Parts: sequence; structure tokens; C-alpha cells
Amino acid sequence: MNNQETLILAIETSCDETAAAVLRGEKNVLSSVVSSQVDLHKQYGGVVPEIASRAHIERIYPVVEKAVQDAGIELTDIDAVAVANCPGLSVALIVGVTAAKTLAFMLGIPLISINHIHAHLQSAMIEAEDISLPATALVVSGGHTSIYNCKSALELEPAGSTIDDAAGEAFDKVAQILNLSYPGGPSIQKAAEKGDPKAIQFPRSMLGKDSLDFSFSGIKTAVLYHCKGQNMKGSSRVGRMSEKEIADIAASFQQAVVDVLVKKTMLAAEMQNSGTVLLGGGVAANGPLREQMKQQCDKRNIRLLIAPMKYCTDNAVMIGSLAWHKYNAGLFADLDLEASSSA
Ligand code: KG4
Ligand code: ZN
Repeated sequence: MNNQETLILAIETSCDETAAAVLRGEKNVLSSVVSSQVDLHKQYGGVVPEIASRAHIERIYPVVEKAVQDAGIELTDIDAVAVANCPGLSVALIVGVTAAKTLAFMLGIPLISINHIHAHLQSAMIEAEDISLPATALVVSGGHTSIYNCKSALELEPAGSTIDDAAGEAFDKVAQILNLSYPGGPSIQKAAEKGDPKAIQFPRSMLGKDSLDFSFSGIKTAVLYHCKGQNMKGSSRVGRMSEKEIADIAASFQQAVVDVLVKKTMLAAEMQNSGTVLLGGGVAANGPLREQMKQQCDKRNIRLLIAPMKYCTDNAVMIGSLAWHKYNAGLFADLDLEASSSA
């Protein structure tokens, strides 16, 4: 069975985006609805789980209804319901899982559980043709930074991951230190446009020359030291800094993170002897990361597939696209499926 006509309704509620999408087959996106909660969490500088959960509850029904309407289908046309059930915030995931289970039960159709991180990598393959696997895959998001050897959409062999903060988390925390708005990634990228990436030499933690693991807590601390002074006494100088000084810190921080991500991915590609690199997750929206990864892949004759901008941050299209592979493999979940914060 390899049915490009299969209609899948996909649901995503792992963090602060309530999303639903309808796909026909693996790549034909009939609708994609994303209701972002950024405005609700902005004032706290990060996602507040209880607020996220409540907002998902309020939004899930209208978001699913709109996805079905936009797709121009009836709920009864759907062949399967897919949902991200891990990893993420349990109180957020549970809203999508409950909605998906209810729909699957009501409609008498299969339920498909999806790992959110694996779906981020699938988003790099949605608009590409003739993909040659295995590939080296890097997923960089707010909660995860990991390298895999991707043998197929459903076979991802872990090769390395962060031992502390995720790359996106570092962007968010450094943005907070610099009084830039949440989410930190886009605001650091914007501030960095006017800065010099070589202005400050922030540390690039490589954890050994053959390591495919990451560590981003050191660089976050280095930015904090830079802003508060080595003895960390007194208040941060950020309020008294010029726009150029902030821009230089943002650009230097961003460059250090990009250097590490690109170097480790190239090392993994060499170790795995890969001709293809996949890049997905919220941080994959970062302009300098996209450009510098492309330059290094081109140098080595490696084909780079990056998630299109619209599928970098959380969305349900990536959930539905990966679910199509599970549908074809007959990998269905039971109605007692649970949400899990870990992968
Ligand atoms: O994939 P995602 O939406 O959620 C998780 O699964 O975590 O990723 C969100 C993360 C946030 O940390 C955000 O700051 C980061 O992606 N991000 C960026 C950019 N856009 C979003 N980081 C760097 N540069 C960007 N342009
Ligand atoms: Zn995500």
C-alpha cells in the first residue's frame, strides 16, 4: 500500500502553537492552520505551560474545524488522524492527543502517533523530490538540538544531541539578557543585522574533536558575563549599552552558535559518509545558519535540504506528512495513547 490519495488530518499542540492540517498523500498540503500563542507568553519571556494548555483547549476545536473547511473536505472523508504525542510540554500535548483520540474514535478511523522531533526533519523533505537516503539530519529547535543518521523517514538513528540547553533555548535566553523580545531567535537575528559577528569571541563548545554532542549553556553564561562583568556583581550594563553594542553581542553570539551547528553537521556528514543533509526545527529559520550550512555543503558536494520557512517552526503539516509513512506501514496507535514529555 502506498496511497497518494490518503487523507490525513494532523494535529500539533506540543508547545505554544495550536495547529492542524489536512494532507492528501505525503506532500499535497490541502490546508494548514497555525494559531500562535506568542502574544500570550511574550510578557513572561518564555512559554508558561499552564497558559499554553488553556489556550490549546480554547483553540483546538476552531483550528481543526478551519483546517477541514480550508481543505474543502468533510470530516467523514478523512482516512486517519495523526497527532504529535511526544516530546514537549505534557499539559500541552495532552490537548492534541485527546482531540485526536476523540476524532479517531468518533469517525472509526486509525490514530497515528508522531514524534515531534522526527516530524521537524520530515519538514525538510516535504517539498523535495528524489531524496537520496541515508542522510545526516540536524534538528534545531527551542527544546532540542540533535543529529541523526536518517535511514528513512521512520528510521532515525541518534548520533548526538545537546547535553544542556537547546540552540533555540540559548537564543531565547540570550534575547532575555539583551532585553530583546520573545521569541529570541528572530529578534537576535534582526538585531545582529547591524552588528559585527567578529566583535566578541564567544566560546564555541565542541566537546572533543569527534563528538557530535552539543553544549550551549557556556555561551549563554559568557554573554551574561559580558553584560554584567566577570564578578557578576551589580546590574547588567545592557540598559546603558548603545544599539551598536547590543547588535555586536547579538551578531557575535549568533555566529558562535552557527559555527558550532555547521561544524558538527559537517563532521557528522563526513563520519556517516552522507551525500545529503537535512535541516529542520525553529532555529532552521535562521538566515545565517541557512546560508553558512549551504556554503559548507556546496563545498563538499552535499545536497542540503532545509525545511521551507513556513515549516521551520511548529506546524501540523510536518506531523501529517510523517504520518503518511506510518499509515503506509500500518503503524497505528491505540486509543489509550498517552502524551509524553520525553521522546
Ligand atoms: O521548532 P520550534 O517552533 O519549537 C520547538 O519545537 O521547540 O522552535 C522554536 C525555537 C525558539 O527557540 C525560537 O527562538 C527559535 O526556534 N527560532 C529561531 C529563529 N526563528 C525561530 N532561532 C534563530 N533564528 C531564527 N530566525
Ligand atoms: Zn518544534
